[in-house]
Amino acid sequence: MNLPLLVDCDTGIDDAIALTYLATHPGTEIVGIVSTGGNVPASAVHRNNLALGELLEIQAPIALGAAQPLVEPPMYADDTHGPGGLGHAVLPAITRTEDPRSGAQLWVDAARAHPGELVGLVLGPHTNLALALQIDPELPRLLKRLHIMGGAIHHRGNTGPTSEWNIAVDPEAAQQVLAAFTGAAQRPVLGSLEATETVRFTQGTLDRFTALAAATGHPVASILADALRFYFEFHEADGFGWMAHVHDPLVAAHAVTGDFAGTRPLAVDVELTGTLTRGQTVGDELGRWGRAPNVEVLTDVRAEEFTRHLLETLEVGLFPSAHG
Ligand code: BDR
Ligand code: CA
Repeated sequence: MNLPLLVDCDTGIDDAIALTYLATHPGTEIVGIVSTGGNVPASAVHRNNLALGELLEIQAPIALGAAQPLVEPPMYADDTHGPGGLGHAVLPAITRTEDPRSGAQLWVDAARAHPGELVGLVLGPHTNLALALQIDPELPRLLKRLHIMGGAIHHRGNTGPTSEWNIAVDPEAAQQVLAAFTGAAQRPVLGSLEATETVRFTQGTLDRFTALAAATGHPVASILADALRFYFEFHEADGFGWMAHVHDPLVAAHAVTGDFAGTRPLAVDVELTGTLTRGQTVGDELGRWGRAPNVEVLTDVRAEEFTRHLLETLEVGLFPSAHG
């Protein structure tokens, strides 16, 4: 069997690109998708995931996650991702139905169905994985590996001055996940902003998505091109110029290929009580806590190579002939 994946995401523009990459990569098998509230409410994320699932012919169950983070009220990033989460894209009517299980239960069932083989990806807040750990504390031993997009360790935040979005939305959940995986045979791999912000899409990249939509006529290629345009507009309005930081696909590609970045061990924890720094990921570089490293952080990203691989995978995968 291809590499079985459980994808937990808050789709979201870069989540949609990651999901499309994972669905079209020839070596993967998505066995479940969890719709986690984050960039937009969980119900809107779910609609996006169901639509992409139908258009990409993903057979795996797609389950709705919790409506709220563990402790604090939700916050949303519709300025970044658009009111529906996919920028300017307009989704077609869909017939794809959701899985009746909760997102947390889907995590547990997928891990139990593929013991020691399932690779988990958290591309949004950690709420549903934290809830899954309450149902089944054995999850860290059942998963083959866990890959996370989250945190800003030696980097400014993109949400608060020191906090990154996926952690800031539900810091308690992120803290609980990192605590639960401490001592796991394989340390979770953390793609924090210092790694993911090396991936900077330019007009040339946007052109490739637009050309892909024209060449393939695939509805998902058009959705991604329209979504990305919004992401560029947001980044420009936020002072970064005409470009986009595209986070989740790098973490997805590294999870699948082990390529495009290195890793290094580090003890990382989440600040829960700071009056200015709640949601910050703190890395203990000098071992002051006396704790063993609990994550592998992504380093030395080969961003251009990764972007080439991403585009080539989408260009092959979305071409109609790829589906026979
Ligand atoms: C993360 O936050 C979300 O807006 C993106 O989808 C990504 O997962 C980057 O901080
Ligand atoms: Ca995301």
